[in-house]
Amino acid sequence: MTTRDSAFVLRSGPPQPIINDATSTVVALLYETNSFMLRATDLEKTYRSGDRALTILRDVSLHVSEGDFVAILGPSGSGKTTLLGLLAGLDSPSSGTVQIAGADLAPLSEDDRARFRRETVGFVFQSFQLIPSLTARENVQVPLELRGDSGASDRAANLLARVGLGDRLDHYPTQLSGGEQQRVALARAFVHEPRILFADEPTGNLDAVTGESIIRLMEELNRERGTTLVLVTHDPALAGRARRTIRLSDGVITSDTVAAA
Ligand SMILES: Nc1ncnc2c1ncn2[C@@H]1O[C@H](COP(=O)(O)OP(=O)(O)OP(=O)(O)O)[C@@H](O)[C@H]1O
Ligand SMILES: [Mg+2]
Repeated sequence: MTTRDSAFVLRSGPPQPIINDATSTVVALLYETNSFMLRATDLEKTYRSGDRALTILRDVSLHVSEGDFVAILGPSGSGKTTLLGLLAGLDSPSSGTVQIAGADLAPLSEDDRARFRRETVGFVFQSFQLIPSLTARENVQVPLELRGDSGASDRAANLLARVGLGDRLDHYPTQLSGGEQQRVALARAFVHEPRILFADEPTGNLDAVTGESIIRLMEELNRERGTTLVLVTHDPALAGRARRTIRLSDGVITSDTVAAA
């Protein structure tokens, strides 16, 4: 027996797994200092139709640090959109918990949750969900006006120019192409400078050049303002830029990898 072994024996019986202890201490500290921007624990989502139950997501736990850039990948129907909706507080899990910026979403009333999302979260829907009766500029103004910001119209116009739509400000959604609508939806999600941005296939309808400019814009937000990014994507160009990649298959996380620095 070496001196080191005997020190363990003298202290408290069997040797302790030092590395695991250190890792769990770091995780515990991160919890305490609340540096996780997003914490999802044991999420499950089950839909009922008649007497049948269909479980779409199960055992999903993930913690995302503030300022991280995460891509969620997986085949069609694997639960990516469902997961994003739960993580952003748009939908409630059948079981499990979600915290954003330290706030537990479950106890909040619908109104409080909507208010919290307006302040903290940006969301780009896979199907855009622009308001058809509003112009591009008015759609982008909505998040600012909901919180009574002045200068909403100018800020909306500036941001639309940054996504290449400076000459489409007064177009209604039906007068825009799919890719243009997607860029309006992106501008709307960015405009109030959310701490965390969720986007469902944000480059899905864009050509390579326009997609690249949108990826750069998101990278800028991430780098300069520390916006946490959680994106669902099939686009290898976008997934390759994320710092962390999570794969879903049949409603469970099958891998979670961090890119080499
Ligand atoms: N409201 C619902 N009721 C019942 N089943 C649903 C509901 N919403 C989604 N599903 C099912 O959940 C599964 C996952 O759907 P989801 O939209 O999350 O997939 P996805 O990974 O985003 O797929 P895609 O890449 O095609 O967008 C699908 O099989 C879908 O049919
Ligand atoms: Mg989807």
